[in-house]
Amino acid sequence: MRLLFAAPIIAALLAAASCTKVPDSESGTMIAPILTGEDAIDSSTYAQPEIARVTHIALDLDLDFEGKSLGGTAVLDIDAKEGADEIVLDSNGLRIASIVDAEGQALEYTLGDMVEDGGKGAPLAIAIGDARQVTIAYQAAEEAEALQWLRPEQTAGGEHPYLFSQGQAILNRTWIPTQDSPGIRQTWEARITAPEPLTVVMSGIAQGEPEELEGGRRAFRFEMDKSVPPYLIAIAAGDIEFRALSERTGVWSEPSMLDAAAEEVADTERMVVAAEKLYGPYRWGRYDMIVLPPAFPYGGMENPVMTFLTPTFIAGDKSLNGLVAHELAHSWSGNLVTNAVWADSWLNEGVTSYFENRILEELYGKERAEQEAALAFANIEETLAEVGDAPGTALYQPDNTDPVGSAIIYDKGAYFLRTMERLVGREKFDAWLESWFDRHAFQPATSAMMLADIRENLVKGDTALEEKLMLDEWVYEPGLPSNVARPNPQAFAEVDAAAQAYGEDGTLDAGAWRGWNSAERQRFLRGLPQVIDSEGLAALDSELVLSGNGNNEELFLWLNLALDNRYQPAVPLVERFLADVGRRKFVAPLFETLMGEGSWGQPIARRIYDRTRASYHAVTSGTVDGIVRGS
Ligand code: BES
Ligand code: ZN
Repeated sequence: MRLLFAAPIIAALLAAASCTKVPDSESGTMIAPILTGEDAIDSSTYAQPEIARVTHIALDLDLDFEGKSLGGTAVLDIDAKEGADEIVLDSNGLRIASIVDAEGQALEYTLGDMVEDGGKGAPLAIAIGDARQVTIAYQAAEEAEALQWLRPEQTAGGEHPYLFSQGQAILNRTWIPTQDSPGIRQTWEARITAPEPLTVVMSGIAQGEPEELEGGRRAFRFEMDKSVPPYLIAIAAGDIEFRALSERTGVWSEPSMLDAAAEEVADTERMVVAAEKLYGPYRWGRYDMIVLPPAFPYGGMENPVMTFLTPTFIAGDKSLNGLVAHELAHSWSGNLVTNAVWADSWLNEGVTSYFENRILEELYGKERAEQEAALAFANIEETLAEVGDAPGTALYQPDNTDPVGSAIIYDKGAYFLRTMERLVGREKFDAWLESWFDRHAFQPATSAMMLADIRENLVKGDTALEEKLMLDEWVYEPGLPSNVARPNPQAFAEVDAAAQAYGEDGTLDAGAWRGWNSAERQRFLRGLPQVIDSEGLAALDSELVLSGNGNNEELFLWLNLALDNRYQPAVPLVERFLADVGRRKFVAPLFETLMGEGSWGQPIARRIYDRTRASYHAVTSGTVDGIVRGS
């Protein structure tokens, strides 16, 4: 409760010193400023934070696995301009029972009309008068899009239900009544009750042991005392267990998966050490991860102190652990310095993808890092070949809330930083990037702020350098600037030659394949001819053991190639894969490929989707609905 009283006092102090820099943004515990520039105005929120904004949330919620819903109360601390008598929150489907002030007096509120425009939801306007704290009693809708309630059959154990949330970009307004905008940072705490034997984890530090309640339930407490953008509030609950990996890192998963999960992420502490050496201290205390059931719609999600991971990255050999490096890197790019609006997503994802590559280089050497970079570059080239220099190929993406393709904001974003690094030299560049994180720690940032910061602290009036960098072109223009620091053409020399030989006369060297790492295998599969007849596919499958491949990135590429060639023998495996895995990056393209195969593929796609749709998170079904059902 300490913070509930502290927040207004801090706000008053801040107002008194309004033109000085926020005193200790260092710890993230101060109220983070709201950016007021035009480019920092978030079109995806109804909030008017310059008038009244949430500074702290205290949730007290019960998880109801039978009703597939959660509800309880949210106490919001508010910092408001003098005379402000209303605060506007975001709501998408929340069922509000009552809103009262700190004395328990009812406050009037209006829930505006829902607009069916991609999840923005409706404004919840509360007449606060002099109140600077409100308590909202509410229930999330059963269809709350952030939440997925899994039936026991969708878990590894098969015995207990499971719940997880996915907040980014604007889904948290389906279960938390707050100002759901990345530029409005808030501290938070929570008390969550769940039936035994389920354990609850959140993206905050667990407080003590769970409290035993009557009726076979337990209460779990969490606290995040550093202000975060609200999309980073996350919850998961299931029959899960913890394994420590180091003093400050560990992993959660269902018991039957814990050995495999722990082995796959065994290098996590080394990654944290490498990341700190690169760009400064890890400021969040613990770094834990949870390996979720395969329905999780993303590869990973950088929820603070509790990264969420798909189990499909478990390959048995750590070959896909770039995912962990990526989510860890977000502890700086994204969670510490946050895109103010979703148009600036590349500030989160592009900077993180660059940082990820640097972590991989530290741990595994230049060769692996350069191979991953070459895969990313091919991704950019492929996308640009498809869409030309459409406006959407600029890093700055007005109107972007949910990027489906990764080539631009992830890979082009990373290549922008790589290009700067090459032009100014690694040492100088690293010092600048570390200082960027430091100057903007626990605050929102825009593309324009990033460019201004580069000019002030890196270019420093060097006009020749300014010209060489092509900064504005990188951020605001479509396509790929001519100064791009290309990947080493030798990165995949042997593999590319092998793919070419196969294309020319069907030469296949299974021995070479067995010696390749996963990046090489992925490159080879991507480099195969698009058209291969059934005999050719059968030979590939049996010689390279593709259908039995335990690496899901490779398996996915194989299944996609097979479907693209109407290879009937692959269909049962595709069907099993799509029934099991809900990761959108795999699911959406497989359905897309099927739908592109006319009278052969479309009936297969519809039949499978009728059966699997209910097992997908809204993020995945939302995309696949558009592909298979045209809606
Ligand atoms: N923050 C993203 C996931 C995300 C992005 C969710 C946009 C919602 C909206 C996460 O860090 C991510 O990038 N995941 C990737 C991992 C990969 C690039 C290593 C994924 O899920 O595939
Ligand atoms: Zn990311």
